[in-house]
Amino acid sequence: MEQYVIKGGNPLVGEVKIGGAKNAALAILAAAIMTDETVLIENLPDVRDINVLLQAIEGIGAAVERIDRHTVKINGSMIRDVNIEYEYIKKIRASYYLLGALLGKYKKAEVALPGGCNIGSRPIDQHIKGFRALGADVRIEHGLIITEAEQLIGNHVYLDVVSVGATINIMMVAALSQGNTILENAAKEPHVVDVANFLNSMGANIKGAGTDVIRIKGVEKLHKTEYSIIPDQIEAGTFMFAAAATKGDITVKNVIPKHLEATTAKLLEIGCEVEEFDDAVRVVSSKPLKHTHVKTLPYPGYPTDMQPQIAVTLGLSEGTSIITESIFENRFKYVDELARMGGDIKVEGNTAIINGVSKYTGARVSAPDLRAGAALVIAGLAAEGITVVDDIVYIQRGYECFEEKLRGLGAQIEKVSSENEIHKFRLKVG
Ligand code: UD1
Repeated sequence: MEQYVIKGGNPLVGEVKIGGAKNAALAILAAAIMTDETVLIENLPDVRDINVLLQAIEGIGAAVERIDRHTVKINGSMIRDVNIEYEYIKKIRASYYLLGALLGKYKKAEVALPGGCNIGSRPIDQHIKGFRALGADVRIEHGLIITEAEQLIGNHVYLDVVSVGATINIMMVAALSQGNTILENAAKEPHVVDVANFLNSMGANIKGAGTDVIRIKGVEKLHKTEYSIIPDQIEAGTFMFAAAATKGDITVKNVIPKHLEATTAKLLEIGCEVEEFDDAVRVVSSKPLKHTHVKTLPYPGYPTDMQPQIAVTLGLSEGTSIITESIFENRFKYVDELARMGGDIKVEGNTAIINGVSKYTGARVSAPDLRAGAALVIAGLAAEGITVVDDIVYIQRGYECFEEKLRGLGAQIEKVSSENEIHKFRLKVG
């Protein structure tokens, strides 16, 4: 089991380059199998979730050729199986995108039903509602979602909750359905737009992605394309809060500043300086941080995937801050870990009440999930003394070379896998 060991207390200073968006890439890789021609995808993040999905795609017979660390060629012409096993779904819920991709292309898909996950219950009723509206039969048998259709026909679909996954899955099926689909109350996240752009580059006809009404005119088939994935707004935001919490000065490069507006707004509210460039943002934290209130919302609201990172930062800000988590019910699991580092946060239902403390002190903590794990690393970087973060396998699901990028900013952090290595690190950093 690998761990991060961190000696905190240094302000992080310098430049960091952000990779491709994991959540866009997961959907785009699934959509890539919807043509029989070869698709080239660039700016792919080299993280665990992506590599597992590539294995799942290979597992059903697609050809996957890794050109380099961030580029892959996919050819879905030889797919012989429309069944995605629980093994993959258990590792990454986003394999459910293969449901929409396979249903659209082959009119049949069987995908293991995803269970709950660390951040709470994750229903897929809206995905199913959309598939049914387009003419598919959907049933659940032996832990599988089995969906098939004689023909898929465009329809009017209204989502009862704004769901990124359902929006993308329904968009994929509608792209290869007959006639027009109007998807209302759609998610507006940057990665929804990226997937629509990708499908359009393959010959789909999707308009309105990025607004809450998406109009899709079905086409008969999709063709080859070359496509580069957008930068990861959550990776970028994580480094922006690392600057804030460590009193640092970080220029986050290769980003689309517009996608970071909710994060930027909160950083300004708590007293950081944020400078925007064409494809970079600089965050400087030189004054005492102030408290604020945050409510997670669908885009363009404040992202739930950035909630733990702002919480550890507010934990070091003057006064009392309140966070309301309105997307997932179980996203405060880092709070008990942070308490071990001296944080003062009380959770009541979907609300966290944070009383700022003057410092965290290093402790042994465990990453409860991907983003909370990254947030605990930020806490460790800001803390006095040494922090050991266990279960970093969660963090590796979504951050490429996290420790190397942090070291490039002056952090003292190492990936270790034994008590002996932790001991050596302690001796080294003194
Ligand atoms: C995606 C992201 C995840 C992010 C989340 C919200 C990926 C791979 N994951 O997850 O990192 O935290 O968006 O921005 O892109 N819901 C239903 N029924 C459904 C689907 C969703 O009730 O059929 C609810 C969920 O329980 C949740 C809300 O809708 O409360 C939003 O979920 P959704 O946007 O679907 O999240 P994911 O696509 O799973």
